[in-house]
Amino acid sequence: MSLTNEIKEIIKATVPIIEKNEAELTKIIYPLLFTRNPSMKIFFNRDHLRKGTQPRAFIGSIIEYAKNIDNLDAIKPLINDIAEKHAALNIKPVQYSIVNICLLEVFGKALGTKGTHVVKRAWKEAIENLANIIIGAETRKYEETLAKEGGWKGFKKFTITNKENESAMITSFYLEPTDGKTIVIGKAGQYINMMLDIPERGTVFRNYSLSSSPNSNYYRISVKREENGLVSNYLHDMLSQKDKIKLSPPYGSLCIKETDKPAVLISGGVGITPMMSILQDAVKQQLTRQIYFIHGTRNRNTHAFKDDVVTLTADHDNVNYHFFYSRNSVKSADTEPGRISMNSVKEITSHQKDAEFYLCGPAQMMKDLYRELINWGVTPNNIVYEYFGPKRDITG
Ligand SMILES: Cc1cc2nc3c(=O)[nH]c(=O)nc-3n(C[C@H](O)[C@H](O)[C@H](O)COP(=O)(O)OP(=O)(O)OC[C@H]3O[C@@H](n4cnc5c(N)ncnc54)[C@H](O)[C@@H]3O)c2cc1C
Ligand code: HEM
Repeated sequence: MSLTNEIKEIIKATVPIIEKNEAELTKIIYPLLFTRNPSMKIFFNRDHLRKGTQPRAFIGSIIEYAKNIDNLDAIKPLINDIAEKHAALNIKPVQYSIVNICLLEVFGKALGTKGTHVVKRAWKEAIENLANIIIGAETRKYEETLAKEGGWKGFKKFTITNKENESAMITSFYLEPTDGKTIVIGKAGQYINMMLDIPERGTVFRNYSLSSSPNSNYYRISVKREENGLVSNYLHDMLSQKDKIKLSPPYGSLCIKETDKPAVLISGGVGITPMMSILQDAVKQQLTRQIYFIHGTRNRNTHAFKDDVVTLTADHDNVNYHFFYSRNSVKSADTEPGRISMNSVKEITSHQKDAEFYLCGPAQMMKDLYRELINWGVTPNNIVYEYFGPKRDITG
């Protein structure tokens, strides 16, 4: 159902009031939602709620939609990112009604005296319209995955078949479907959602990027031990071969585009995981395009997949690597000291600003690089990124 011009005009006229109250709305929306429906709480990452990144992404996405209500094509990437995250969590249409009710309640408060019956009615229709757009995008993703060989919806049981240390902090887990059947081949750079039951903590969900070239037998993920992190420590310390976990099929949009442009894969820390998947896959597919693999980490101890990258690139003239160690102050045979800087990216790529840039790493590194790439003149279309939290935190 499309919105009438009258509703669109009301939304455009009143969205500045919502925007003015954005900070307050981000504070109250989730407490209200969890009071009304406590069972929804388990789906959300507590860390993202505590830091405010998820509430900001949530309210921010509705404001972005409202501002673009005349041109919804502009928010297609946003809708896609939301639908990818939702699909990996197996979010269902029935869950939207309570979210919509809570949104209307807090928006009603924000509108204050401007929130006449007509205005509230317009917001109700607009929010329901947005929910339907997202539900439609999710449904298409569910259907696409189910239509593929080995596809499934929701969470499927997997067995850990191997566990390998990749660095002082990062361990890989090889995950095979417990029923022994073929699994859907995701795209390199995508992520799965893991559903775990942790004793005394209950059910938790976490996303992990595929860290190897996708295939139909197993998924490999590589997890960094986070200080005081619930799931990462549980995986490192408590789970090993033969243990069972549940996984969603792969979703996500950090996927290499099918062009001949040079691809610049830039990662920091554990952000190397999707880039490993992309690199392995590119080599497997024998892509001939130029690929720059640029990775920054603290030092040799924290450097995962170093030998793999060196081996993978050895026989391929079109692929080269550049490693940066932030804790080193001098250059070594194959590492540069310091962090990845925009100047080094320009130098490595011989100033090819029409290349495609793929980013994954810590928030500050990505915010800086994204901004600097744009300032340099790279078009947003040529920057693809994954962030290990709500994505709008980087560009929003
Ligand atoms: C698309 C996507 C892909 C991802 N891919 C990967 C990947 O390939 N590899 C990987 O390792 N991770 C990946 N992640 C991150 C992963 O999902 C988890 O967020 C990560 O493993 C940390 O989870 P945790 O349960 O160990 O930590 P959490 O328990 O969620 O804690 C996270 C941080 O918050 C701090 N914290 C927790 N509670 C408090 C508190 N009360 N007060 C103050 N601080 C607190 C902890 O110390 C920790 O540093 C990805 C995330 C996304 C969204
Ligand atoms: C109009 C309705 C909705 C909007 C606009 C919306 C918006 C968003 C946005 C912007 C994100 C972050 C995406 C990213 O990481 O880039 C997100 C994530 C998420 N959404 Fe929604 N959402 C809606 C409905 C729902 C519903 C009905 C549920 C059901 C429980 C839900 C559960 C989640 C969860 C669990 C996450 C991941 C949170 C995390 O990482 O901690 N959302 N949503």
